[in-house]
Amino acid sequence: MRQPRPRPAGDGRPAADRPVAVTAEAAAPPDAATRAAVLVEALPYIREFRGRIVVVKYGGNAIAGADPARALASFAADVVLLHAVGIRPVVVHGGGPQIGELMGRLGLVPEFRDGLRVTDAETLDVARMVLVGKVNRDIVTAVNAHGHLAVGLSGEDAGLLTASPRDPALGFVGDVGSVNPELLRRLLAEDLIPVVATIGSDGQGQAYNINADTAAGAVAEAVAAAKLVYLTDVEGIRAERDDPASLIHRTTPDGLDALVRSGAVAGGMIPKVASCSRAVRNGVPAAHVLDGRTDHALLLELFTDKGVGTMVALP
Ligand SMILES: Nc1ncnc2c1ncn2[C@@H]1O[C@H](COP(=O)(O)OP(=O)(O)OP(=O)(O)O)[C@@H](O)[C@H]1O
Ligand SMILES: [Mg+2]
Repeated sequence: MRQPRPRPAGDGRPAADRPVAVTAEAAAPPDAATRAAVLVEALPYIREFRGRIVVVKYGGNAIAGADPARALASFAADVVLLHAVGIRPVVVHGGGPQIGELMGRLGLVPEFRDGLRVTDAETLDVARMVLVGKVNRDIVTAVNAHGHLAVGLSGEDAGLLTASPRDPALGFVGDVGSVNPELLRRLLAEDLIPVVATIGSDGQGQAYNINADTAAGAVAEAVAAAKLVYLTDVEGIRAERDDPASLIHRTTPDGLDALVRSGAVAGGMIPKVASCSRAVRNGVPAAHVLDGRTDHALLLELFTDKGVGTMVALP
């Protein structure tokens, strides 16, 4: 029987092996030997992560490209494939562009501070409607095209995400107070795929919009995930914000702190980087930031020797 190749502990792919970007798919379809090699390459990774939880944060920007339906279908196929090989995915999603779009249609002007949306009562209503009623439903529907697998949740359900106000100047923007992973555990035990919109509740009936990156990190910690994967609209974390050639292939929480201090990280990357650092320091073995607009980025990162994007792990 063919034996899987031994690989370093802690997902320690050598940095030099990690390409800058996913190369375009070959024009000709791969031959049978190549297809077989791809499957065999995946085997050790499938064995390593079988039965483990992988939290995938699907950014609103990854959905909002030229063809959202195609992006969703590709993402859903990847999630279903993970599930089919015994990995337990939990999807946490954002929806920034989708909230912005409805606000625009309603004549409301979005305002951001440090990558966080200033959220008055009206903005909270819009965010909640869009995240729970639209983006969550779209992801659940795309996954369930493959079978009765996905269950859509709001963080308000069964105490999943409790929120506390972050800063009065930001309005109803919540910090994660606590994560109650019981509901997720029950769904995972039933072989279902939870899909979480990150609206939290303060326990007194007030809802808060929680940044989805922050929530995904907290959920990954609470369920002791093997991996936390951020799918966004950039190929990974860059050392120079506007220079794709400065993509960082592999770094540590301390490395990310230095990057933030240097001012290289801005906008929506700030909460992502902070959550990666925190989750990895708190026991999640690896966090990844990938371009969710690249077809099958999730599979390439999890199941091939050459990862894509940025990987964050302890040294
Ligand atoms: N150093 C950096 N490296 C890479 N991207 C950066 C950096 N600094 C800032 N960015 C910006 O961060 C953006 C990603 O965060 P953003 O919040 O916009 O997307 P998202 O979190 O995937 O989507 P959503 O917020 O809807 O869930 C990139 O498009 C990029 O412009
Ligand atoms: Mg964001």
